[in-house]
Order: sequence, then structure tokens, then C-alpha cells
Amino acid sequence: MKGLPTLIWLLVTTLSGVTSALDYERDIMPIFEKKCADCHSRASGESKGGLILDDPQHLLGRLGKNSLVVPGDWDASYLFITLYRPEGDEDAMPPKGKGERLTPEEVTLVQKWITEGAPILGERGAKGEMPEASETMEKEKGAMPEPPSPRSWTNREGKSIIATLLKVEGDVAVLRLANDTVHRYPIANLSEESRAALPK
Ligand code: HEC
Repeated sequence: MKGLPTLIWLLVTTLSGVTSALDYERDIMPIFEKKCADCHSRASGESKGGLILDDPQHLLGRLGKNSLVVPGDWDASYLFITLYRPEGDEDAMPPKGKGERLTPEEVTLVQKWITEGAPILGERGAKGEMPEASETMEKEKGAMPEPPSPRSWTNREGKSIIATLLKVEGDVAVLRLANDTVHRYPIANLSEESRAALPK
């Protein structure tokens, strides 16, 4: 009988492992079918921007093209950016007044799916990292925080760079430049204005 508890434990962990992994067809597509179908679906015959979301094969073919979905890299994935942008923003989806926005929980689900390597039709790309809890939507339920987009940062000598703030770690700001290099910049060296732009 000694082996039985181990077997049960193994079964439980295996099963929970399966259910916690996200899958496009099962977990993500139903959200898009509900909220994006008017303009991006086989069902409605509309493929605005050439994008069809209820056809995994089509999406798999477009993965990575024009950074639509970059597996493992949520903040480089245009699909995610469109969902994250504030309502009414030029690049926000759905367009203002033209459909129901995703809830913060649904946006986080898409973010997790991309981070897990964007598994679709049994294919999976590189895995990445989810942001710190403070950067996710879970912090302020219902409120959309600022999108992770590039902005100008100035140091105390008045030099400016364009970069995306990935996170703040203690007294260091982790910035990603347009050429994809990541820099850890001491916050004390930033101008007062740039320091004020950091999340509190
Ligand atoms: C009322 C119509 C409408 C709805 C609803 C809508 N979209 Fe769009 N979408 C568009 C249009 C129009 C474009 C093309 C915009 C352009 O090319 O400038 C577009 C383009 C896009 C693109 C860029 C495609 C590319 O490769 O350039 C993405 C990503 C996108 N939509 C995602 C979504 C998602 C996700 C939803 C649901 C949450 C959604 N859209 C809902 C109209 C819509």
C-alpha cells in the first residue's frame, strides 16, 4: 500500500499541471469569439486588418509576423498591446464604442498565454516571464493601468533616451530600448521629471 499515496499524489500534480497550462483553442479563443467576432472571424466573414481570431490555423500562420504574437514576450506582442491600451486609444481593441472590452482578468489570461509560449494547435514557442505582481492588472481590479509603451527618459545631465519601463527593482529602473537591449538604470540618476513618471 506504500506506493498508493505516491501514485495519487503524482496523478493530482500531473492533472493540476495540465489544467494550469493555457491553450489557445480552449482558453483564449472563446474570449475573442465573444468580443471580437464582429470584425475578426470566419463566423462573421469579417477579417479587419487581415486578422481572423476564431481560426487557430490562420493565427498560427501569423504568429510572430509583424510581432502580432511574440511567444514568451507579452509586451512585444501587438495583440496584447491592443488589449492593454486605454479605451479610445488609436490602437486599442475593440475600437471605442464598437464592442465589449476584455476584463482585466481576461487581459491577464492572454498575457499568461503569451508568456507560456503562446501554445496553439499543440505548438509552443519560447517561454517568458510574467511581470511582477505590481505591474499586472491584479493590482487594481477593474482599473486599466498605463500600457507598457515606450516614452522618453531623461537623466540628470539632461540626456534623453526612448525606452519602455519593464519594472522597478528597488532603486533601479529596468528599461528596454528600441533595439531590444535591457538596461538597469539607477533611479537616482534620472531627472526629477523622469522619476515622477515611475509607478509609485
Ligand atoms: C468593430 C470592429 C472591430 C472589433 C469589434 C475588433 N476589431 Fe480589431 N481591428 C479592427 C480594424 C478595422 C482593424 C484594422 C485597423 C488598421 O489596420 O488600422 C483591426 C486590427 C486589429 C489588430 C491588428 C492586426 C494586424 O495584424 O495589424 C489586432 C491585433 C486586433 N484588431 C485585435 C482585436 C481583438 C483582440 C479584438 C477583440 C477584443 C478586436 N480586434 C475587435 C476592427 C475591430
